[in-house]
Amino acid sequence: MLSVKFSIGNAENNSFAIEATFAHHYSYSYHCAAVLLLIKSRWEGKLAVVTGASAGIGLAIARAFVRSGLNVVGLARRKEKMESEMANADGKGSFYAYECDIANEQSISNAFQWIEEKFKTIHVIVNNAGVGKPGKIMELDFEILKNAIDVNLTGLLLCSKLAIVLMKEAHEAHIVNINRQCLGKAKDIADENIRTFYKTFVSSLFGHQVYISPKLPYANIYPATKFAVRALSEVLRREQNDGNIRITNISPGAVRTEMIQHSLENLERLEILEPEDIANAIIYAIGTPSRVQIEELTITPAKILS
Ligand SMILES: NC(=O)c1ccc[n+]([C@@H]2O[C@H](COP(=O)([O-])OP(=O)(O)OC[C@H]3O[C@@H](n4cnc5c(N)ncnc54)[C@H](OP(=O)(O)O)[C@@H]3O)[C@@H](O)[C@H]2O)c1
Repeated sequence: MLSVKFSIGNAENNSFAIEATFAHHYSYSYHCAAVLLLIKSRWEGKLAVVTGASAGIGLAIARAFVRSGLNVVGLARRKEKMESEMANADGKGSFYAYECDIANEQSISNAFQWIEEKFKTIHVIVNNAGVGKPGKIMELDFEILKNAIDVNLTGLLLCSKLAIVLMKEAHEAHIVNINRQCLGKAKDIADENIRTFYKTFVSSLFGHQVYISPKLPYANIYPATKFAVRALSEVLRREQNDGNIRITNISPGAVRTEMIQHSLENLERLEILEPEDIANAIIYAIGTPSRVQIEELTITPAKILS
């Protein structure tokens, strides 16, 4: 049995609230429906920027936002892919694809100038674009390592700064940074003692803890960028402390996307996450009342396949 009470207040004073009473059986789908209703009321017609919206997690986030009534600007290099992937997205929100190389300062500046001219303000930004190439630091070209820093950290920093300038016009705003949970439950360590490892590392993040093994030597510069993103999120949260801009760091475990194709065979005993799982978490985070700061969300696969 489930009873859900909605009390929706005034958009201007952020007094939206949902009261949900879950009796006997908690229902996730009812919970999602409640959160979605809240999102639709509060964020409908507002502008969200999603970097890396052409594939994987970013594409799922763009779809979830459009479904929730947000207008979305997707920033990625593959503009046509964004357009074709989003062509049939359902929902009241509109999607605008803008070609942008997050490793290039001028390209980012051009994108935000276009956003300012067209929309004036930004309400939500999801700093999602990211790269992670397999290989050890000494085996990879410097340019590959530098590109990861440029996309994962420097580009994210510039996007955040330019977004915050435009967010000052908004009544409330939300920055979401996508971090990384340690890949953890991978085959090589699984063979040693997968359950012990899971319990030890489930709360540690690649942005919090480095994990490298002989069979998973791909981390290279990636954890350094994600450690830095976590620190940056914390500094920005303290600097933007008037409560109008909330900042959430999302740290997923393994998600089925292009990025981890190379390590899927090492993850065969994991029931890995889907991009929609991360998008749903972001819908939850931005849907909380404006007094609530979700600082960190760690999302890991629940099941280890035997
Ligand atoms: N998959 C996982 O297991 C996992 C787990 C935890 C966290 N993450 C993080 O989640 C985020 C998204 O990853 P994903 O798994 O969805 O990867 P993905 O499927 O490979 O997608 C990466 C996205 O980033 C964009 N991107 C890469 N370089 C870019 C650049 N120079 N300029 C603009 N956009 C760029 C790509 O767009 P274009 O190529 O079109 O430019 C693409 O849309 C990343 O920050 C990643 O570190 C992933």
